[in-house]
Amino acid sequence: MLTLAGVTAGYGGGDVLRGVDLVCAAGSITCIVGPNGAGKSTVLRVVSGLLRPRAGEVGFSGRPIGGLPPEEVLRRGVAQVPQSQALFPSMTVRENVLMGGYLIRRDRALLRSRYRAIERRIPIVAERAGDAAGNLSGGQRRMVEIARCLMLAPGLILFDEPSLGLDPRSLAAVAALIRELNAEGATVLLVEQNVRLGLGLASHGLVLEGGQVRLHGTAAEVLAHPEIADLYLGGAPR
Ligand SMILES: Nc1ncnc2c1ncn2[C@@H]1O[C@H](COP(=O)(O)OP(=O)(O)O)[C@@H](O)[C@H]1O
Ligand SMILES: [Mg+2]
Repeated sequence: MLTLAGVTAGYGGGDVLRGVDLVCAAGSITCIVGPNGAGKSTVLRVVSGLLRPRAGEVGFSGRPIGGLPPEEVLRRGVAQVPQSQALFPSMTVRENVLMGGYLIRRDRALLRSRYRAIERRIPIVAERAGDAAGNLSGGQRRMVEIARCLMLAPGLILFDEPSLGLDPRSLAAVAALIRELNAEGATVLLVEQNVRLGLGLASHGLVLEGGQVRLHGTAAEVLAHPEIADLYLGGAPR
């Protein structure tokens, strides 16, 4: 469904990604882990069209998407839930969610039915519909950010550090929602500092270091790898 082959990309002078290969099969959850600055967010930026690759191929559903503008990538069914603080704080929850449907704004019936489905799926959207997004807690905001990206019914959802700054309860709710969306057919690619959470959620894992893929496999294989256990989990998994 999503393929990166030999992707090189960076900002200004140097290359941040150096020949990254990645395959996300339809229906999978892939988690990218790795140290700070490894290029994890950069991989997502290349996929969502925010950064144009300097070399290599990016394909989605069998068509090349590398270098397409973000709006075009979105139109093809790839949506990113950004790292944080992505809502318009003075706009209401409802307005923020509806913004996610900008590309389908002319189809009022579709807009309405998507919004209704999201209200049922993510209760906070209905409960706080008229409140300014800036008045929500961090966990509630994360839910609304996800709700907004669902307005386009994406086939591939990108999450950059979905656990960042969340309390344990919100964390569990976000993890459960990611699982549900995946069970309903969305393919997921996520970046996660919380390695146990991320790989626990994922079917596949990939370790990125210095802009290169150090290790990839099933999430269980990556979790069980002795070096990963040492580097990221503070010893062998229990
Ligand atoms: N907008 C940018 N301009 C210049 N350098 C950047 C930019 N964003 C990230 N970088 C650099 O690219 C490298 C990888 O960043 P990033 O992909 O955000 O890493 P990660 O998400 O793994 O922590 C880092 O060295 C970072 O400083
Ligand atoms: Mg990052």
